[in-house]
Amino acid sequence: MTAAGGRVTADGGRVTAAGGRVTADGVRGHRIAVLAGDFIGPEVVDATLEVLAALAPRAGLSLAFERLPFGGHAIDTHGAPLPDATKDGVLAADAVLMGSAGGPVGDHPWNRLPRALRVESGILGLRQHLGAYANLRPVAVFEGLEHLSPLKPEIARGTDLLIVRELTGGIYFGKPSYNGPDRGVSTDVYERYEVERIARTAFEAARLRRGHVTSVDKANVLDVSQFWRDVVVGVHAAEFPGVALDHLYVDNAAMQLVREPRAFDVLVTANLFGDILSDLAAVLPGSLGVLPSASLGGRVGLYEPVHGSAPDIAGRDLANPTGTLLSAAMMLRFALAAPAAAAALEGAVRAALAEDPTRDLGGGRGTRAFTDAVLAHLPAAVEPAGSSPGGAAR
Ligand code: NAD
Ligand code: IPM
Ligand code: MN
Repeated sequence: MTAAGGRVTADGGRVTAAGGRVTADGVRGHRIAVLAGDFIGPEVVDATLEVLAALAPRAGLSLAFERLPFGGHAIDTHGAPLPDATKDGVLAADAVLMGSAGGPVGDHPWNRLPRALRVESGILGLRQHLGAYANLRPVAVFEGLEHLSPLKPEIARGTDLLIVRELTGGIYFGKPSYNGPDRGVSTDVYERYEVERIARTAFEAARLRRGHVTSVDKANVLDVSQFWRDVVVGVHAAEFPGVALDHLYVDNAAMQLVREPRAFDVLVTANLFGDILSDLAAVLPGSLGVLPSASLGGRVGLYEPVHGSAPDIAGRDLANPTGTLLSAAMMLRFALAAPAAAAALEGAVRAALAEDPTRDLGGGRGTRAFTDAVLAHLPAAVEPAGSSPGGAAR
C-alpha cells in the first residue's frame, strides 16, 4: 500500500502500489513475513500458504515466506510476544501475513503475565511498530451465499460494507492506563491528526465505492467522541464535499448493522467500537471465520483475519481458513499489485464456499477438505501482475 504524505491512500479494493523485485524472466519476487500465531493461527496460515504457493507461479509471482516468532509461542520460546527479530523481520518484508495469536479466554499462563508481556500487547505493539493505523475490514455477503447467514436471506443479501477501524489510538493506547488494587483506569484519547488521517482513509475508500461514509461514535456522552465527530465533519467539509456523510451513535449502529446492513457503505469508527462492530458484522456473511482485514498506514501492511486463535476448535480440522485466504487476497491487491491473482483467489474461495463450506457455516468440510476445494478451483493461469511494477527493488 502507499503512505502518501503520511496518510493511507487505501481504496477499499483497488491497487495502490507495487513492491518487489523483477527477475530477468519477468517474475515478480516478494518477501512475505509470516506470523502464524497460536492455536488455529498456524492451521489457517498453513492452508493459506499452500494456496498462495499454488497460485503464485500461475500469476508470475515468486513469493518467499519467512516465518517469524510471534504471540504465545514466542512468549514460551523467546520470552516476549513480539521479539526483536520479528520487529526487524516485518520491516524487511513486502507484507506481513498473520494468523491469530492468543491463549484461551479463561485462566492460562499467558493471561497471568504482566500486561506488557501479554500476547495482546504483542499484537498492539506490532500494529504500532508498523504504523498500521487504518484497519480495513470488508464485510460482504457474496451473491448466492446468502443462505450461509443466520439472518433472513432478504436482509443479508447485497451486504457490501467496509469497516474502517482506527487501529493505533483511542482507549487501546491512551494514558494513564493501570490496573490498581482499588481502581482500574483506561483512557480514551484521540489527537486531531489521528482522526483526520483515518477520516481521509474512509472518504477516499468511499469515493471508490458508493460514496457514502457513516461515522460511528458516542458523541452524546463522550467528549472524545464529540471531538471525533467535529474533526470528521471538518475533514469532510474541507476535502470531501462530494461524499455523503452521516453519523450514528454506536449503540444504534450495532442495531442497524443487523437490521439493514445494506444501508452501510463505509463505516469509520474508533479502535474499540471497530473491534466490537466488526465481530458483530461477521454474523452477516455467517461466521467470524470468513472476515479478512488489512492494516495499513506504514510502509509495510499487515494482513490478518478478524478472528482470534479459537482455542476451542484448535487441532480438530475445524478452522475456517476463509478469513486468512481473503486477507491474502487483500495482500495480493494492496501490497503486491497483483489484482488478477487476488481476484482468482477470491473466486476460488467463493466457489469452494458455494460447493460446501466449513462447519462454522453449516457445511460439512474440515480445514483440509476446504483447502483442497480452494486449490481445485484456482484457475490454471492468471493474467500476470502489472507489467510495470511501481516499486523499486530494495
Ligand atoms: P475467537 O475469534 O478466537 O473465537 C470466537 C468464536 O469464533 C469461537 O467460538 C471460535 O471457535 C469461532 N471462530 C473463530 N475463528 C474461527 C474460524 N476461523 N473458523 C471457525 N470458527 C472460528 O475469539 P476469543 O475466543 O474471544 O479469543 C481467543 C483468543 O484469540 C484470545 O486470546 C484473544 O485475545 C485472541 N484474539 C486474537 C486476535 C488476533 O490475533 N488478531 C483477534 C481476536 C482475538
Ligand atoms: C482483533 C482482536 C484484537 C483487538 C485483540 C486480540 C488485541 O480482538 O484484532 O480484533 O482487540 O484489536
Ligand atoms: Mn476483535
